[in-house]
Amino acid sequence: MTRIPFIAGNWKMFKTGPEAIEFINALKPLVKDARGREVALGAPATALQAAAEAARGSSILIGAQNIYFEKEGAYTGEISGAMVQATGASFVILGHSERRQFFGDTNEWVARKLAAALDAKLIPVVCLGESLAEREKGDAFKVLSAQLQGSLASLTPARAGTLILAYEPVWAIGTGKTATKEQAQEVHVFLRAETAKLLGEDIAQKTRILYGGSVKPDNAAALLNEPDIDGALVGGAALKPDSFAQIVNF
Ligand code: PGA
Repeated sequence: MTRIPFIAGNWKMFKTGPEAIEFINALKPLVKDARGREVALGAPATALQAAAEAARGSSILIGAQNIYFEKEGAYTGEISGAMVQATGASFVILGHSERRQFFGDTNEWVARKLAAALDAKLIPVVCLGESLAEREKGDAFKVLSAQLQGSLASLTPARAGTLILAYEPVWAIGTGKTATKEQAQEVHVFLRAETAKLLGEDIAQKTRILYGGSVKPDNAAALLNEPDIDGALVGGAALKPDSFAQIVNF
């Protein structure tokens, strides 16, 4: 099974619309020869439209970093999947550990957001990851299994064709501390097996599992060459076109 690597930047709460346009115009020539991989950028909601317009005509995909699960209504401050889709964006990051930690996203909410993303024809990138305390207690696999099961609770095999997972150990995000390629590969194999239990072997083999957490130009190739690491979700190193392009061109 060949899974096309998916290399996504996660800009978090960085970049205005004009800054997004500037970044994308600088990135385009740097990744134009990147074959056999998909390049994606998760932009703040306020920059989605500008980013999608700047990326038009290139192969760069633009996505949101969160949505709410209702279609519309009195939910001040929230945005729906359809609103994201209407900007020209094509994917959405769900259940990032910062959402889980600071904004109360639970597995149940992630599952509802996942259903809403699919209803809006957005590619869902569902994030999972254990904390340092959980890893040190020897609970990482138990925690990941529960997160996966809870976050995918709304999903049937028939709707899982575009699913992307991202393993992001919380202790590696923004800390400069990367999981070793062996640690990440071990978790990815585990997540694929757990996905097979939930959705079947065929879906599990097709599902791309990204690694995220301090991915940099100098460690990207080692991680991405592991057989079950099918891409990267990149925070800090995706804020500059040249470092992100180096990762894309790993
Ligand atoms: P980082 O962030 O690359 O800055 O560690 C990754 C993420 O949070 O998606």
